[in-house]
Amino acid sequence: MELKGLILAGGAGTRLRPLTYSSAKQLVPVANKPVLFYGIEAMRDAGIRDITIVISPGQPGMEIRKRAGDGSQWGLKVGYVEQGEALGLAHAVLTGEEAIGESPFVVYLGDNLLRDGIQTMVEQFKSSQPEALILLQHVDDPRAFGVAELDGDRVVQLTEKPSEPRSDLALVGVYMFQPGIFDVCRSLEPSPRGEYEITEAIQALIDQGKRVEPHVVTGWWKDTGKWEDMLETNRLLLDAIEPQVDGELIDSRIEGRVSVGEGSTLERCQVRGPVAIGAGAVLKDAYIGPYSAIADGCQIERAEIENSIVLENSKITDLEHRLEGSLIGRNVVIGGQNSKPRAYRILVGDDSKIGIL
Ligand code: DAU
Repeated sequence: MELKGLILAGGAGTRLRPLTYSSAKQLVPVANKPVLFYGIEAMRDAGIRDITIVISPGQPGMEIRKRAGDGSQWGLKVGYVEQGEALGLAHAVLTGEEAIGESPFVVYLGDNLLRDGIQTMVEQFKSSQPEALILLQHVDDPRAFGVAELDGDRVVQLTEKPSEPRSDLALVGVYMFQPGIFDVCRSLEPSPRGEYEITEAIQALIDQGKRVEPHVVTGWWKDTGKWEDMLETNRLLLDAIEPQVDGELIDSRIEGRVSVGEGSTLERCQVRGPVAIGAGAVLKDAYIGPYSAIADGCQIERAEIENSIVLENSKITDLEHRLEGSLIGRNVVIGGQNSKPRAYRILVGDDSKIGIL
């Protein structure tokens, strides 16, 4: 039977505020592409053709609908269901029940990214047909994740964000299920943090003696829920970008892996890759250093930027110091001036963080 896909892209994204006040966290771009799109493409590459995206009501959900559309940009069928309240991953899975019907399916957390995609695991799931297949990875600090204990190839115990983890195997945000999981999700009670946990649903399968297969992922995996992780994922992706310059270079120097989108102009700039610059950007007398992703329509003049993500249509000018390790939202204006007296003039939204180093 054909596998269907369910991408969970609801939730409040509180750890990525203020970016997530106006946009969904799954739409924040890494290497100039929304995180969510990597998940959609991973599903497509694994042969999945019918995808349902769980979104939150309101602006962030609407924006996901607008950007991913009906899926035709990937040759897929993409539909949407709204999760009224972010009551947990098992609750989000239940909102997809009607769309999934009787199919086995893949659940993909919309803020997760795997270097090597999910094709191998989908093949394993199809051929051995367990009740559930979970993806795991050895991590340094498993306390921020669901944690699995294995006995050989058997999953013995799953615990959500334990304070004293009994193994270093974190649950990656991709799960494969038979439709029987819906009944299990329905039988759950809220966890201590008040959510219906998918980790507990899978534990319930184990307790019922059902076969839950593990797959340990070796290529890198990232959960982009926090801004440090976003920057780290951006670095990992930029390391592998295809160099391609479609924009115009005037008296500018480019070194290493650099991509520049159509209609962008770089005048008297130095760019040291890996760097991705989107389309329609205007850069003058600027230095763009390694691991920077500058989105479409940005304007950067007399400024230096390194190891940062700058979203669409932001304007950064006349900075005395280099902008480093920063995540800049859309339509942001950051500007300095060289004359005295000097001062900071700042208009920033709630939950912003500014470091003057
Ligand atoms: O990233 C892997 C981890 O994801 C696992 O190790 C954990 O076991 C699992 O519980 C999950 O933990 P997080 O705390 O990171 O999940 P988060 O709340 O960030 O939600 C993950 C995605 O699911 C995100 O794209 C938002 C979406 N979501 C979340 C909730 C709580 C929903 O669509 N609905 C929801 O109710």
